[in-house]
Amino acid sequence: MLFRLSFPQRILCLRICKSVDYQSIKLEKTRPRIRRGKERKMPFEKLIQKINKKLTHTRKKAAREYLLESQNEIDKKINYNELINNQIESFKESGGIFNGFAVAESAIRALFYNLLLDEKSKYNIIELGGGQSTLFLNQLSNQLDISLYSYEHDQEWFEKLKEMVGENDALNLNLSPLANVSDHEFTEILNSDNGFDIWRNKSMPLAENMDKDTRAKNCFYNVSEPQLPSIDIADVFILDGPHGNGRALAYSIFKKFIGKGTYILIDDYHHYPFLPQLQELYNVEVIVEKRYQHSNKGWVLAKVV
Ligand SMILES: C[S@@+](CC[C@H](N)C(=O)[O-])C[C@H]1O[C@@H](n2cnc3c(N)ncnc32)[C@H](O)[C@@H]1O
Repeated sequence: MLFRLSFPQRILCLRICKSVDYQSIKLEKTRPRIRRGKERKMPFEKLIQKINKKLTHTRKKAAREYLLESQNEIDKKINYNELINNQIESFKESGGIFNGFAVAESAIRALFYNLLLDEKSKYNIIELGGGQSTLFLNQLSNQLDISLYSYEHDQEWFEKLKEMVGENDALNLNLSPLANVSDHEFTEILNSDNGFDIWRNKSMPLAENMDKDTRAKNCFYNVSEPQLPSIDIADVFILDGPHGNGRALAYSIFKKFIGKGTYILIDDYHHYPFLPQLQELYNVEVIVEKRYQHSNKGWVLAKVV
């Protein structure tokens, strides 16, 4: 239906849809009306109003879906852990946000419910894509012995995040700009035991401003050797970045940190074949797979067995 709009209108629609990450939104109602074989063009401002109204409506439905999910999980004690529940509540009370652009509250509940069953004295976590999850882990580190290695590509956001986190030895925040590889190199890295070296040798820094493109191809963090975690196997891997299909490169580039017992939480796992790619490389048990009805969001929690 978008082909009926003028070129600038199409660009604007796509921008709006992309920026709110609701690629699934339906815009049928913006179709120009046809009268006696003639197309009557909808005024541009009216069209934008319609799109905005539709977006607000969809956002509300999505927010309600998240809210009901959280209430249901608390009521029925699904993936319920007292410590984590209290931490989630106090995080939200102090302005922290889950869901939408950030990692889902239910994903955090499922991850920590399962992780804490392992009853380890310390938990090593690697996170790709900094944001609310980083801030939550910052807060949680006061209650739980965790060590977080987080990677973020956006300098401005990274500085803000660092400022919000403040001094905390449990958190190791790394600024790693994005680079990319060709399709051939992408496959080569994914299938290699030497992914980190191939990536370091063959990847090229992204062209300026391409790091804002939510569908940038074959991108990953240009992690330097000193930025690698100083741990053996990670207990948790949170894959919430970068944008596009490149997130799967983590399976190979961070291979030495993924092993038996590692929990892998993949946000928006269905946007690209992230789960089959993981299953191809590791023997994993899928613990929870979640897709939302009112947004193009979803997540999966898997464990390497
Ligand atoms: C899908 S977000 C998720 C980040 C994080 N795991 C979370 O739970 O919020 C991925 C990227 O969006 C960008 N981002 C997230 N929150 C942001 C904010 N408030 N302002 C600017 N950029 C943001 C960052 O570059 C981040 O790596």
